Amino acid sequence: MKEQLEKIKSEALEKIGSSDALDVLNDIRVAYLGKKGELTSVLKSMKDVPPEERPSFGQMVNEARTQIEDALEETRQILAKKAREEQMKREVIDVTLPAKKNNTGHSHPNTIALEEVERIFIGMGYEVVEGPEVEYDEYNFEKLNTPKGHPARDEQDTFYVNDTILLRSQTSPVQARTMETRKPPIRIIAPGRVFRSDEVDATHSPSFHQIEGLVIDKNITFADLKGTLAEFAKELFGADTKVKFRPHHFPFTEPSAEVDVSCFKCGGSGCKGEGWIEILGCGMVHPHVLEMCGIDPEEYSGFAFGVGLERIALLKYEIDDMRLLYENDIRFLKQF
Ligand code: DAH
Repeated sequence: MKEQLEKIKSEALEKIGSSDALDVLNDIRVAYLGKKGELTSVLKSMKDVPPEERPSFGQMVNEARTQIEDALEETRQILAKKAREEQMKREVIDVTLPAKKNNTGHSHPNTIALEEVERIFIGMGYEVVEGPEVEYDEYNFEKLNTPKGHPARDEQDTFYVNDTILLRSQTSPVQARTMETRKPPIRIIAPGRVFRSDEVDATHSPSFHQIEGLVIDKNITFADLKGTLAEFAKELFGADTKVKFRPHHFPFTEPSAEVDVSCFKCGGSGCKGEGWIEILGCGMVHPHVLEMCGIDPEEYSGFAFGVGLERIALLKYEIDDMRLLYENDIRFLKQF
């Protein structure tokens, strides 16, 4: 028995000493120390050892086991270190590889169009201001010369919070707020979201965006309005763009006009429509509005305009359905 034990031990130690890989080492552990291993089977044959020799033999088996375990662990550490070093040599980082691209998203066509409009007006010395989306009836209508019962309220039916508070149906109330809080000269644009109780279709939505413009100073005339909007249209749609002013009515401007631009595809000669596309409403600020907002109409005059932002985005990017702007389909949005 003792010789057998010695033989197992020296065999095991020799195999451990000459093993060159971690999985080989593990096989050796199983072969000697495992449940069906050689050393384990020696222990099982303890019953063949005379009783008086059992304690000393048991001790020998345990010592052999400890020696084998120590040798296994020592070799395991050496082999693991070697494996790590080889792996590090193999996995050299190639710093010349192109970096992974960050997925940063990109601007919505509305935002691109708005930034373009802001850039144009800031270039003409305008300041960008904002007003509240939840507005008083007083600012949305009354101070814009549109008292209760006025027919112009019909096409601007909106969502009411109560009798006096509503979701603004236009950005024009920012005109009134600005005139009340600032002294002329005033030169602002006011972009923002507006609301109307409209059904959704290709050209309507209960929520859309406008950009309001307001200029108040001494001796502002319709010629200033015309020159400004002609310049705006050229910057936005190209140097050949022509503008056409059609007489119209808005309660808060007198005279009022709607402005068409020559179609940048057919140059005004007529393609799908008449060759002209309506882009905004405008006019000279009504003296009564100036008065209600604390500005003396004898001393000052001004012009105002209101542009539909979606309108601009649809035209500029040749999109034929406004709903596409709100569906958040990345395949669509990625094109701009
Ligand atoms: N607020 C008008 C609308 O929503 C658009 C408009 C027309 C704004 C004339 C103006 C203006 O400032 O002068 O229909």
